Amino acid sequence: MAIRKATDVFHDWALAGKDKGMEKGHSSAVGEMLGFIFQHVEKKQEKFSAIDVGCGNGWVVRLLKEHPLCSSAEGIDGAEAMIAKAKQIDIEGDYSVRQLPEYAPSKRYDIIHSMEFLYYLEDPKSMLKLFYDNWVAKDGWLVVGIDHYLEHEESLSWPEHVGVHMTTLSRQEWKDAWHDAGFTNISSWQAGEKDSVTLVIAGQKVD
Ligand SMILES: C[S@@+](CC[C@H](N)C(=O)[O-])C[C@H]1O[C@@H](n2cnc3c(N)ncnc32)[C@H](O)[C@@H]1O
Repeated sequence: MAIRKATDVFHDWALAGKDKGMEKGHSSAVGEMLGFIFQHVEKKQEKFSAIDVGCGNGWVVRLLKEHPLCSSAEGIDGAEAMIAKAKQIDIEGDYSVRQLPEYAPSKRYDIIHSMEFLYYLEDPKSMLKLFYDNWVAKDGWLVVGIDHYLEHEESLSWPEHVGVHMTTLSRQEWKDAWHDAGFTNISSWQAGEKDSVTLVIAGQKVD
């Protein structure tokens, strides 16, 4: 199968209504990720800004916005039809078409959430460094869910099956990448109801 750009494939998925299936499939793991985020912001009792990178139809942005301490939440994705869907569901919402790693934000965020996006990049380790240097505010968090990694054997056939590039790293390589990018207070766990296949990694920018 010819290799296509991930954002072209997901554009087609949105047109075919497959975004809803992803939302359902990812909801349990994302629930745990949001639980982690909300626990930290509630401890601090300060307003927080958030962005969901690779937001699909924007469902996580809408969950973030529901939190009483959330001052702003936005979503970005490189697939036009995903963002069109997000705007259709939530006309007031802040959703934009952005290609990573090229896009650089003009502000920093207290929370960066990203589910099932990072490994589509050719060089996810450099993206983590960009997140650390240019995206996360001081004391802010990067919380990411990853289902494609070396130890998740079933996921190793996905690049060929879907016809897109995926960067395959081991659990340890992913965790090391958070450390190498500069994050501290790194924690990771396996999340999700079906065999807990989602590798979640969270790290804080403390300086
Ligand atoms: C597996 S989907 C996950 C969507 C959403 N996070 C969810 O859980 O429903 C991956 C998303 O990342 C986006 N994406 C992949 N590579 C990207 C890139 N280089 N720049 C921007 N978005 C990208 C795709 O368009 C797609 O919507």
